[in-house]
Amino acid sequence: MHLQANDVVMKFKGVTALDGVDMELRKGEIVGLIGPNGSGKTTFLNVLSGVFTPTNGNFRMGDRQWSKVSLREAARLGIRRTFQNIRLFPSFTVMETVEVASAWLDKGDRRENAQIALDALNFGQYRDRIASELSYGMQRRLEIARAIAGRLEFLLVDEPTAGLNHGESQDIVEVLQRIRGQRGCGIVLIDHDLNVIMNVCDRVIVLAEGKIISSGTPQQVRSDPKVIAAYLGS
Ligand SMILES: Nc1ncnc2c1ncn2[C@@H]1O[C@H](COP(=O)(O)OP(=O)(O)O)[C@@H](O)[C@H]1O
Ligand SMILES: [Mg+2]
Repeated sequence: MHLQANDVVMKFKGVTALDGVDMELRKGEIVGLIGPNGSGKTTFLNVLSGVFTPTNGNFRMGDRQWSKVSLREAARLGIRRTFQNIRLFPSFTVMETVEVASAWLDKGDRRENAQIALDALNFGQYRDRIASELSYGMQRRLEIARAIAGRLEFLLVDEPTAGLNHGESQDIVEVLQRIRGQRGCGIVLIDHDLNVIMNVCDRVIVLAEGKIISSGTPQQVRSDPKVIAAYLGS
């Protein structure tokens, strides 16, 4: 199954954050989304996941097509996400955090779905810990666990390795690969760490000023003069 974005435009008052983005995402594929600060990466995840309604454009997945969708409807379609800044419910336990997400989707057995998600991130002995008392790295992992409980077609992750050390970042890379393998979902990964992107992505898409300026294999994109000029530097 494919998830397609067609001619997506997002304007905020004076700012055009997305300026006609076309993208086709496939299940089983890990796609890196990179570009300078303010190039529209987070905004793209926001419109794809129903946080914002785009100014123009539409989406298609399987036989469904829409131009406007709520965060919950998108989640029920299996389009799931994490946030650039961690957004956990502070006083919930690990298990409760993931169970609530799975109840919110209203599909299947929420306890079983929560357990599957926690197992994928090796949360075993942490399940009764309070979310806000976890280390920063574990909180980042919990965000991912919450995003994969229940129906999962496409997982959108916004800078999951921000603030993590090398070993913790490597763990996140392995987690994403494991989720893709176990669940067969497509993944869109935004990350500033190019080593992470180059290691894990099948395909990389580069945004600059709200437009796609390059896409291809990690090697193709890394040597594209347009990408070097706009993002990578000399
Ligand atoms: N909610 C918002 N209101 C107004 N402007 C926004 C909002 N979200 C993003 N923008 C603007 O849209 C542009 C793209 O931002 P963003 O998608 O966060 O970029 P990136 O994630 O690539 O750093 C920036 O100019 C940003 O200031
Ligand atoms: Mg961002």
